[in-house]
Amino acid sequence: MTAQALAALHARCFTIPPPWSAESFAASLADLACHLEVSGPALTGFALFRLVLDEAELLTLAVAPEARRAGVGRALLSRGLEAMRRKGAQRCYLEVAASNAPAIALYHATGFRECARRPGYYRSKGHAPCDALVFQAVLD
Ligand SMILES: CC(C)(COP(=O)(O)OP(=O)(O)OC[C@H]1O[C@@H](n2cnc3c(N)ncnc32)[C@H](O)[C@@H]1OP(=O)(O)O)[C@@H](O)C(=O)NCCC(=O)NCCS
Repeated sequence: MTAQALAALHARCFTIPPPWSAESFAASLADLACHLEVSGPALTGFALFRLVLDEAELLTLAVAPEARRAGVGRALLSRGLEAMRRKGAQRCYLEVAASNAPAIALYHATGFRECARRPGYYRSKGHAPCDALVFQAVLD
């Protein structure tokens, strides 16, 4: 999977926080601590994780608008969390904009629980500041 393809899909999926550049994805793909899950040969979605000791972080998750509500996001999360667990992760954390109802519903549906709030964390040009919610899942 190329960094350009990941950045192109990301740009279709994100406003807050802003989409990542191809350079950011290239750096993650080269980082041995990062783990990428992709969906479909035509790239309908992907999830990017990073593992540090026994803590995983979901760095980003994106599903193409035309492929949503078909279980792609849930499957990417489930496969990625299982991979993190096998590599020794005991917990997984993520941050999500408090205004992102679809993602928050997905995280609740996949075993994540809210553990912190960062007021005004997301500050995107042209948008009011938005809180970040921190979610945690315990990986048994
Ligand atoms: C959030 C996102 C990844 C969900 O992907 P998806 O493939 O549509 O999700 P799924 O079809 O696997 O949904 C699984 C469950 O999540 C919840 N869910 C997902 N989207 C939802 C929505 N729009 N409204 C309510 N619940 C939703 C539901 O519980 C759903 O189960 P159900 O369809 O059986 O009711 C996708 O909407 C997306 O890419 N959004 C833009 C980028 C983004 O916000 N990424 C996460 C940032 S932290």
